[in-house]
Amino acid sequence: MNKRVVSGMRPTGKLHLGHLVGALENWERLQAEFDCFYFVADWHALTSGYAATSEVVSSAIDNVADWIGAGVDPERSTLFVQSMVPEHAELYLLLQMVTPIPWLERVPTYKEQIEQLAETDLSNIGFLGYPLLQTADVVIYNAHFVPVGEDQVPHLELSREVVRRFHNFYGEVFVEPQALLTPTPRLPGLDNRKMSKSYGNTIDLSDDEEAVKKKIRSMYTDPKRVRADIPGTVEGNPVFIYHDAFNPHRDEVDDLKARYREGRVGDVEVKAKLASAVNAMLTPIRERREAALARPGDIRDLLVDGSRKARRVAQETMERVRSAVKLKY
Ligand code: TRP
Repeated sequence: MNKRVVSGMRPTGKLHLGHLVGALENWERLQAEFDCFYFVADWHALTSGYAATSEVVSSAIDNVADWIGAGVDPERSTLFVQSMVPEHAELYLLLQMVTPIPWLERVPTYKEQIEQLAETDLSNIGFLGYPLLQTADVVIYNAHFVPVGEDQVPHLELSREVVRRFHNFYGEVFVEPQALLTPTPRLPGLDNRKMSKSYGNTIDLSDDEEAVKKKIRSMYTDPKRVRADIPGTVEGNPVFIYHDAFNPHRDEVDDLKARYREGRVGDVEVKAKLASAVNAMLTPIRERREAALARPGDIRDLLVDGSRKARRVAQETMERVRSAVKLKY
């Protein structure tokens, strides 16, 4: 039996190229080597989005279509919904008994998010407990590895500490999960800030060819190049970061870089070639995504089936947890 991988994504809107290179390509690759469980972290979406929940389910369906578009295969991996496996909540509750509040208060994302989402009231218990719910998500499946971005490493560290403390009280029950970081280049947004839905600077996996062309035409590039004959900077230039990430024609990219540095190419050509490369890369993803979305009932069905399968594993773990805590009647 292959070792298990567990990862989740919050259903908070459309997925973009950052999700593709930061998570989904990785999820797709890991299927060859591991028993992968991928889930919609809908309760996690509520920890900060509790006041507006009407789009959670539609985002979930749309996101899972994107997962399938990116090659995540429901035949090979278990795809499910967190809230369809209520055992996550039971384990979360028991983990709360042994988790000191300061351990949660000092997780870096906690204060960062409170500052960043200043207009949202994040004084709720659910938001403080975010990394502990994440711990339950992972350890309930005996996951060895958790593919996540750099920002999530402190959450996995908390998970390991909580598991050790639980084991000190009740004996060994869980596998200590490890973060699985694949070095993925951070993809800037179209305006060279962090790529984020809230900045409106994303290319979405659901964008059509015209939208991609239009967005790339407006992309931030070397601001000192007000004319095509002014030498430009390639390093750190988002247009070339994208070329490196998405254009498989290395000769073309090298040629564009050389001419850019010498002031012998216009932005129009550099961007048109980038748009072609991004569109070529997205074409098969779009086709699979559209085929999946044409049958939304099938997406629901596969999530129900996957959740049933995940739940059997979670229930088996919870039997052992209840025994360990001596709550067997
Ligand atoms: N916190 C993760 C994120 O923002 C989402 C998540 C929730 C998750 N539960 C998880 C990731 C369990 C990995 C494992 O990306």
